Amino acid sequence: MGKTLRSLLIKNGRVIDPASNSEAVADLLIRDGCIANIGQLSTTAEVTIEAEGMLVTPGLIDMHTHLREPGHEQAETIQSGSQAAVGGGFTTVAAMPNTKPCIDNAKMVSFVKEQAQKADLCRVLVVGAVTVGRQGQELAGLEAMAQAGAMAFSDDGDCVATTELMRKALAEASKLNKTIIQHCEDPQTTRGDVNAAIAEAVGLSGSSEETEAEIVERDLKLLGNFSGRYHVAHVSAAATVEVIRKAKLRGVNVTAEVTPHHLALTDELCRSLDPVYKVRPPLRSAVDVAALKAALAEGTIDCLACDHAPHTSQSKALGFSEAPAGMIGLETALGVYVTELIEGGVLSWMRLIEMLTVKPAAVLGLDRPSLAVGQRADITIIDPARKWKVEPEKFHSKGRNCPFAGKILIGKAVATIVAGELKKTPGKTRG
Ligand code: DOR
Repeated sequence: MGKTLRSLLIKNGRVIDPASNSEAVADLLIRDGCIANIGQLSTTAEVTIEAEGMLVTPGLIDMHTHLREPGHEQAETIQSGSQAAVGGGFTTVAAMPNTKPCIDNAKMVSFVKEQAQKADLCRVLVVGAVTVGRQGQELAGLEAMAQAGAMAFSDDGDCVATTELMRKALAEASKLNKTIIQHCEDPQTTRGDVNAAIAEAVGLSGSSEETEAEIVERDLKLLGNFSGRYHVAHVSAAATVEVIRKAKLRGVNVTAEVTPHHLALTDELCRSLDPVYKVRPPLRSAVDVAALKAALAEGTIDCLACDHAPHTSQSKALGFSEAPAGMIGLETALGVYVTELIEGGVLSWMRLIEMLTVKPAAVLGLDRPSLAVGQRADITIIDPARKWKVEPEKFHSKGRNCPFAGKILIGKAVATIVAGELKKTPGKTRG
């Protein structure tokens, strides 16, 4: 639990700050919630964390989280999801609006913010719905939601499928200087349960890779008329990477994210028909996974995002077709990223941390996170070499729908600090 501290000293950690592209072993002093000093410090503090061999980074941001409250509190609450976030090293999460009722008005935005304040763990940003009730019929009141504090807009879980509505959404979001986050699965052409390549073999409906790219292409044509920002949620397919790459070369204001599961798992796992592997968009082929990693390495994909999607064990025990889609991620994401991307030689630590801090902050219109003196002390301390076994029964999330159960991952957050307060406490503290 959080402990109000006046001063906290992190000793001998490797401080990685993408905002200034700097990386050095140093001590970092936090006082009254802000970074007070960095360097070789001889000062003392109320609490000291010995961080030799650890990484000290700006607080990690997960820009794509489902907290399920209101309406599905048996799957997750804002409190349990926030606890999972800080457990996984995240100081900030952006909550998606597919709750019940959904977050499509100012009152609902305020409700989530109030619950998050009560939980008092991590920062919870709110993503408002694009359409009323997420029904894809009528544009929701984006301006009122923005005034209440919504940071971006998305019908995530569903696509904003009609061209006219997407045009209106982009026009309105441009005026408000907010990002539209699109879930690129057109219900007309692609609501299959598994990747099309294996659909016939397993006797289920398939979702083709090309349709994801088609939605992105259509939306980017519309975006050309506006000054706004457009972000592709959970990119899953090589064809989509290609469309985004070309658009970026033309200077289009598009950004994209990839999830841990789309980076680490393939459609082959769905042959087991275990509903834990059911997710939207579906797991794709090894060729797609390779394209996603290459896209991260070259910067075509900007952000890493969990798409933490808890569901009850009862609902996930239904058959593959009946079970809801989605996987939890907040408490495994960092380990999967380190295992796949650092150990796998895809990214440097600097780039990985950038994709979890500076980049998502830009998409969400936040101040650029940095570890400069005077900045708010949202900080994550990471053990880059920690090998650990995934045991979902020990998670803070209520969700147990974890596709990595039993796996050994490398890399773990050992402390999570929000505004100078320790929300996840490491073993070794002095004070
Ligand atoms: O698999 C998914 N589950 N994909 C989404 O986009 C939504 C999520 C959920 O809310 O369960």
